[in-house]
Amino acid sequence: MKNRKKIYEGKAKILYQGPEPNTLIQYFKDDATAFNNKKKDQIPGKGVLNNFISELIMTRLKDVNISNHLIKRMNMREQLIKKLDIIPIEVVVRNIATGSLVQRLGIKEGKVLNRPIIEFYLKNDKLNDPIINEEHIIVFEWATPNELEEIISLSSRINDFLTGYFFSLNIRLVDFKLEFGRYWDNEEASIIVADEISPDNCRLWDVKTNKKLDKDRFRQDLGEVGKAYKEVAYRLGVLSENEFKKVIKNDL
Ligand code: TMP
Repeated sequence: MKNRKKIYEGKAKILYQGPEPNTLIQYFKDDATAFNNKKKDQIPGKGVLNNFISELIMTRLKDVNISNHLIKRMNMREQLIKKLDIIPIEVVVRNIATGSLVQRLGIKEGKVLNRPIIEFYLKNDKLNDPIINEEHIIVFEWATPNELEEIISLSSRINDFLTGYFFSLNIRLVDFKLEFGRYWDNEEASIIVADEISPDNCRLWDVKTNKKLDKDRFRQDLGEVGKAYKEVAYRLGVLSENEFKKVIKNDL
């Protein structure tokens, strides 16, 4: 890799200084973690797949006027992105009950919700990303009331759009996590989508078989994690088997 300044290293990605002011380079690693870093492994090719999958989804969101940080994909593992002030909140949108919702509230696994639920978690590994509500966000000034309104509106639009998009590929969008940031342009900030949208932070079930095509395969030791990500990439049409083989020698 070229010699450039590392700004931040997360569990699945690294951010480097970008070529111009207000830009960063987002590098996708093969590392997978779960349960706040307690479970760790490498999934060969995951970074490449997430790079392509997230590029496609962010591009589709832009097509429907939902702004996000992607400027362009640079290569197999990197994207040029806009530099943002990250809002320290993880927004989870749920369509079907599973995961922590089922564990916390004893709701039946797989229940289709009457309407989507939006939840907020504080991005704080030391505290295990605790669940918070809108009052916390406003009182502790993690976002202003206007920003929060925009975050909720964007999350809902993204869910509506992506639910239909994935359904057309025979995939149910069960739930997913979003992050947002403030993008400053001429002293004015707008809220735009950050991070990535990929099988690392979405739950995706095959419509016919309910087969999990996402990171739950890793969290729950279901095996064939990379294969599931590849399946999502192929259904989205972002990478062919041949292109992928050029990068990753070992079969997933
Ligand atoms: P949960 O059911 O474990 O709360 O997860 C809800 C959704 O958020 C699921 O699609 C996975 C995603 N998620 C992340 O992207 N990062 C996380 O740290 C957690 C806990 C969940």
